[in-house]
Amino acid sequence: MRKPMVAGNWKMNGLRANLSEVAAIDQAAAKANCDVILCVPATLISQLALKAKNIFIGGQTCHNEASGAHTGDISAEMLQDTGAQYVILGHSERRIDHAEKDESIQQKVLVAWQFGLKAIVCIGETLDQRDSKITLGVIGKQLLNSIPDSVSGENLVIAYEPIWAIGTGLTPTTDQISEVHNFIRVSLEHRFGDQLGHSINILYGGSMNGKNVVEISAIPNVDGGLVGGASLKAQNFIPIIESIG
Ligand code: 13P
Repeated sequence: MRKPMVAGNWKMNGLRANLSEVAAIDQAAAKANCDVILCVPATLISQLALKAKNIFIGGQTCHNEASGAHTGDISAEMLQDTGAQYVILGHSERRIDHAEKDESIQQKVLVAWQFGLKAIVCIGETLDQRDSKITLGVIGKQLLNSIPDSVSGENLVIAYEPIWAIGTGLTPTTDQISEVHNFIRVSLEHRFGDQLGHSINILYGGSMNGKNVVEISAIPNVDGGLVGGASLKAQNFIPIIESIG
């Protein structure tokens, strides 16, 4: 049985003062039927670790090597050392801002696993790709090339985030979400076997909020959400936590 999850992605937002949001989120997480994860800027992880009793903690990227001469980068081991259990990898903003490719994302997943982190791997199409009716091809290629063969099930979460839905207030129709999530499920089962493929959580991300969460999370093979803007404030994030699971 998959346990649903909701992960907040604070992106490049949040100072120490914003951790005041955490106490209420932590209380909601204690009562929730889903796992709650907060992926905060790396600068806040150790402070969040002191406050979060019921929340899992995540980073937002790591380098594809374990350590070395990479000024300004952060390693999986550093994230783990400072209190993270998860890391988001291959977010479209990193694919765009830092030219991350599937192959280096796969290396990042491996190094994350090496240091005991669970990887939340993001995939999703642009609006052009959707309009050109190549969404499933794009998703299939991202899945194949950014996920290593050595999946255990426990150590991987997939997040489907259509790029055109991120931060725009636009969301796909339930049919569109359903089509992609079912495709991801079948692809995972085909590649890793029914049992393992069935056990991997598939999250939806892109303008999820307290209003659309019930409809989206009711779609089969949607196992929760990856939430950006609406995760920054407890009053917006808590209704999402309460609706999932
Ligand atoms: P928004 O919820 O702000 O659209 O962001 C989604 C996202 O990119 C989460 O990783």
